[in-house]
Amino acid sequence: MGAVKVLESVAALRVQRAAWRVAGERVALVPTMGALHQGHISLVQLARLHATRVVVSIFVNPTQFAPGEDFAAYPRTFEGDCAMLAAAGADAVFHPGVEMIYPDGFATSVEMRGPAVAGLEDLVRPTHFAGVATIVAKLLIQAAPDVAVFGEKDFQQLAVIRRLVLDLDLPVEIIGAPTLRDPDGLALSSRNAYLSEAERAIAPRLHACLARVADDLQKGGSAKRLLDEARAEMTAAGFAVDYLELRQARDLAPVTQKSAGPMRLLVAAKLGRTRLIDNVAVDL
Ligand code: PAF
Repeated sequence: MGAVKVLESVAALRVQRAAWRVAGERVALVPTMGALHQGHISLVQLARLHATRVVVSIFVNPTQFAPGEDFAAYPRTFEGDCAMLAAAGADAVFHPGVEMIYPDGFATSVEMRGPAVAGLEDLVRPTHFAGVATIVAKLLIQAAPDVAVFGEKDFQQLAVIRRLVLDLDLPVEIIGAPTLRDPDGLALSSRNAYLSEAERAIAPRLHACLARVADDLQKGGSAKRLLDEARAEMTAAGFAVDYLELRQARDLAPVTQKSAGPMRLLVAAKLGRTRLIDNVAVDL
């Protein structure tokens, strides 16, 4: 297992990208904010199946955090991340500083409608997706990958990025990767590190509840009744529910009588000071 190559500037990334292009390599980008866990490693493994070279970006993007959110406290574990990426067979890590990405005078923001204002994460985090769209657009332009892999755990983010790539004609294929879970069902997340022991014991109930509602919906149960009951159950278990919603998977539009095709059940809830999000597919 060799050490992973660390690229700290856009220029170094572009030199590497150009060399790979000349060699006829197919390049995948896996954007992350570090604090890597097995969920990220599964993204790298999926990227490997679609490309001959895998670049992982590690950048805690300040513009997607609102004042008062956990930007300063967000876990930063760069050395450990690099060791995991080397073991996973990533070829390079792009690790720019904040001033490289947002130099003095930076004046551009990618503002989106559509899935970015679906009334889910954006309700609680109104500035979040402009920050995500801006950094992802920059990373895709900088790394010019053939494919880029994002987790389905951040399902609204994935929908936003698919729309961004379509709208800006970015020549990249976006691949969504299934959510990795602990054996008790809790979706892997860097923020799980914030959970106390007692909260960690309660946290898997979020997914258990989602899975049961998805099952009951598929058996023909009333969406309104099932969602109301599930919200009450989550609240009784100790979660402060931001939203629990059934949406159309493609664009996150509300489900109507006429809706057809794949649906998604999405939840965000706070447990103590930790905000957890999750989602499951619903095939009606
Ligand atoms: O999902 C994340 O970790 C971040 O939102 C991303 C896509 C790396 C952009 O900063």
